[in-house]
Amino acid sequence: MLTIALPKGRVLRAVAPLLVRAGADAETLLADDRSLVREMPAAGLRFLLLKPDDVPTYVDYGAADLGVCGRDVLLERPTDVYQPLDLGVGRCRMIVAGIAGRAAPTGVPRVATKYPRCASEYFARRGVQVEIVHVQGSVELAPVVGLADLIVDLVETGATLAQNGLQEREEVARISSVLVANRAAYKLRQDRVRPFIEALRQPPHLAAAGGRGERADAGA
Ligand code: PRP
Repeated sequence: MLTIALPKGRVLRAVAPLLVRAGADAETLLADDRSLVREMPAAGLRFLLLKPDDVPTYVDYGAADLGVCGRDVLLERPTDVYQPLDLGVGRCRMIVAGIAGRAAPTGVPRVATKYPRCASEYFARRGVQVEIVHVQGSVELAPVVGLADLIVDLVETGATLAQNGLQEREEVARISSVLVANRAAYKLRQDRVRPFIEALRQPPHLAAAGGRGERADAGA
């Protein structure tokens, strides 16, 4: 069996058509139940459904041969996994935003984010001193209620920013879903791993279209 770690939620729905090309059964994969292991013995495939942040951990430790996760997850917590393929789905951007129309704060701004490492590194690279406030979600609320001056978060359509009176200020990174591989499995199980990866490879015209509604964020 080839074991593949997948993030539960919208990214799963976005990558399902690709996984079907690699032999997965969409109905089993997307079944609306609480089972965390989805096995397809005829295809020699087993999928583990995880919190997005946990996918690299399962792959790094070899509990899964392969995994799918957002680039944001790997940026925030670098893990020693091989990244053989950008899946071209789940496209979004990591950005800095603040209250629309409000001037940049004087002094050391407070920055609320689910991505403390990415945010710290971004501002440090620019020589800007900030205070990071780590929150787990609903990040856009922080400037509205005075918890923070700025946020670092993912934006896809921009609707959440707009509906909370926020405005993008800077782009931190471009994000998409990537396939990750356990380094040992990639070498030792080449006969199973390589054909699976090739089946997921998007034709260029489809890769260019991957995007809205298929975000690869860690908070799904
Ligand atoms: C994500 C992200 C933004 C929002 C952006 O949050 O953190 O809040 O989606 O999407 P948009 O630009 O299309 O509006 P998510 O829905 O995962 O929930 P969270 O706030 O709990 O992280």
